[in-house]
Amino acid sequence: MSDLLATKPLDLLMAEAHDESCEGLRRVLGPVNLVTLGIGAIIGAGIFVLTGTVAATFTGPGIVLSFILAGSGCIFAGLCYAEFASLIPIAGSAYTYGYATLGEIFAWIIGWDLIVEYAVGAASVAVGWSGNLIALFQSFNIQLPPQITAPPGTLLALYNGQWSRLATIGPALASAGVDPAKLPSAHGILDLPAYLVIALMTTILVIGVRESANFNSLIVFIKVATVLTFVVIATLYLFRHPQVAAANWHPFVPPNQGSFGAFGWSGIARGAGVIFFAYIGFDAVSTAAQEAKNPQRDMPIGILGSLAICTVLYVALGLTLTGVVHYTLLNTAAPVAVGIQATGVRWGSIVVMLGTFAGLTTTMLVMLLGQSRVFFSMSRDGLLPEWAGRIHPRFRTPWISSIVVGFFVAIFAGVLPINILGQLTSIGTLLAFVIVSAGVWVLRVKRPDLHRPFKAPLVPLTPILGIGISLGLMASLPWSTWLRLIVWLILGMGIYFGYGRSHSRLRRTVR
Ligand code: ALA
Repeated sequence: MSDLLATKPLDLLMAEAHDESCEGLRRVLGPVNLVTLGIGAIIGAGIFVLTGTVAATFTGPGIVLSFILAGSGCIFAGLCYAEFASLIPIAGSAYTYGYATLGEIFAWIIGWDLIVEYAVGAASVAVGWSGNLIALFQSFNIQLPPQITAPPGTLLALYNGQWSRLATIGPALASAGVDPAKLPSAHGILDLPAYLVIALMTTILVIGVRESANFNSLIVFIKVATVLTFVVIATLYLFRHPQVAAANWHPFVPPNQGSFGAFGWSGIARGAGVIFFAYIGFDAVSTAAQEAKNPQRDMPIGILGSLAICTVLYVALGLTLTGVVHYTLLNTAAPVAVGIQATGVRWGSIVVMLGTFAGLTTTMLVMLLGQSRVFFSMSRDGLLPEWAGRIHPRFRTPWISSIVVGFFVAIFAGVLPINILGQLTSIGTLLAFVIVSAGVWVLRVKRPDLHRPFKAPLVPLTPILGIGISLGLMASLPWSTWLRLIVWLILGMGIYFGYGRSHSRLRRTVR
């Protein structure tokens, strides 16, 4: 039993972190790269797709409060990540921190759980990307065969010359008095655009991190500019039309409609649990620690800087979006585009469309990057087979794990809907936040002597708040999501006891 709780010695981890051997990853990323890497992971389907659904179904304009609630939970966990990432700057992120503090079995659980965050997260965003692509095609009157636009079993109907998911257009049909059974219909077989975009991202990642980082920086610039453009255009509009703002923002927190989560204060809580997805990604900066030039100084900058910038952007976007459009009209795949149309600024629509694609693209890229780096670390520790950590001789990237991850993520993206994928991503990420926050506290008690280049303030209050808020957000997610997480963790245990435990390098050295 005690060997399950064996911890990886910190000196060994620090030596690995400084391993500059030819086999290591390249140290090419500076502080600006790391902040952009974080923003690249963070701004994605959450803000560009989920904002509308959350405002329309849970919060109304009060989405601003949900953003603040979810963001503050992330700040406490982010401070804990920053302490760890500067102390143990190694590619494995939360997995490595768990290994150093809580023991091998916890490390395995987190590593396995991070697959849910990064791989399933990338799949969710790919589905959002696909939805936007289909909407773009439809705006040019191009209809893809419905069977290749949706996961298996999704029912689509042809209405007003467009194939749409019945679940989405149901309310519109009902108010128009149209019987859906009388419309031409089809069933989805595969979300092909989602599948293909993951294949493309995987190819970019295999070619190399330097290329990926430059590509990422360019696109991050475009998507931040998009959010700012929207906020500025919408603010100017609201100043010119204060009566619109007054009508749309009133009441700011619409009254509860009778069940938990349907508006009112419980809606703000449920909204925070769902919109939490929009913040996921700042922790992915820590997986690039072995590629950072000066991780001790730059990891906290990357993690906290990207989180702070995104929180401000999200609050501003949530406020202005619900100001220009009534929240009841926002339940669409492209809510920001709806917002910009309401302002009447036509060139703004093109900017928003471009920015949405850019936003979703970089999020997928960073999540896939994070996933392959976690596999790399787990394989180096012997918990996964050696091939998962093999570095390509020319590209210097963990190419085999990138391809294996890409293969499975593409399939997930092709066959599962965004709500299942998104909620699973959130619960998996929140579990990692709980364990990382606990790890910071444990290590402060066990090894107070360590030199910590960055110290989270007010320990243990910060980790306690990180744990408490994360557990609260987990509790707001549906039971079916919990069940999927539990099944996944049980499967992981099977692999650990079947393979990882007997191949663990730590175990071999300890013996
Ligand atoms: N935060 C990421 C997104 O919103 C996962 O797409």
